[in-house]
Amino acid sequence: GAPVQADVSKLAPGEMMTVEWRGKPVWILHRTPEMLASLEAETLERRLADPESVRLQQPPYATNRHRSIHDRYLVVIGICTHLGCSPTAKLVPGAAGGMAEDWPGGFFCPCHGSHFDLAGRVFLSQPAPTNLVVPPYKWLSDAVVLIG
Ligand code: FES
Repeated sequence: GAPVQADVSKLAPGEMMTVEWRGKPVWILHRTPEMLASLEAETLERRLADPESVRLQQPPYATNRHRSIHDRYLVVIGICTHLGCSPTAKLVPGAAGGMAEDWPGGFFCPCHGSHFDLAGRVFLSQPAPTNLVVPPYKWLSDAVVLIG
């Protein structure tokens, strides 16, 4: 499949868009400062199965805490790594999908209840074995990203 360009210039902080690449949905989330701060919390990392993204081979820029080239923009394939369902974005802190502790925001897969954080990192003891997959991509300018 050919690479796909996405223009994020109209994507406001806190908003997400989906582009299709190789028949798969790729999510681009413009994270707010509050969302980024939530990823810095040590209390969050203790709840994650693979905070450094070592379980699944990933692009080198996906192995940091934000799992992205630019902190603000998460670029991730929107397919659950368990059995391929489509997780739901739950971007606001609060309760989500039966997770007892405070939900910092992220993605919730309704099929078997896997929870992911705002960097697509899977929480401990979830059906999904790995973090959401970060596709190959690069930024062509401040507002245009090339996926693939
Ligand atoms: Fe997502 Fe099973 S397919 S938890």
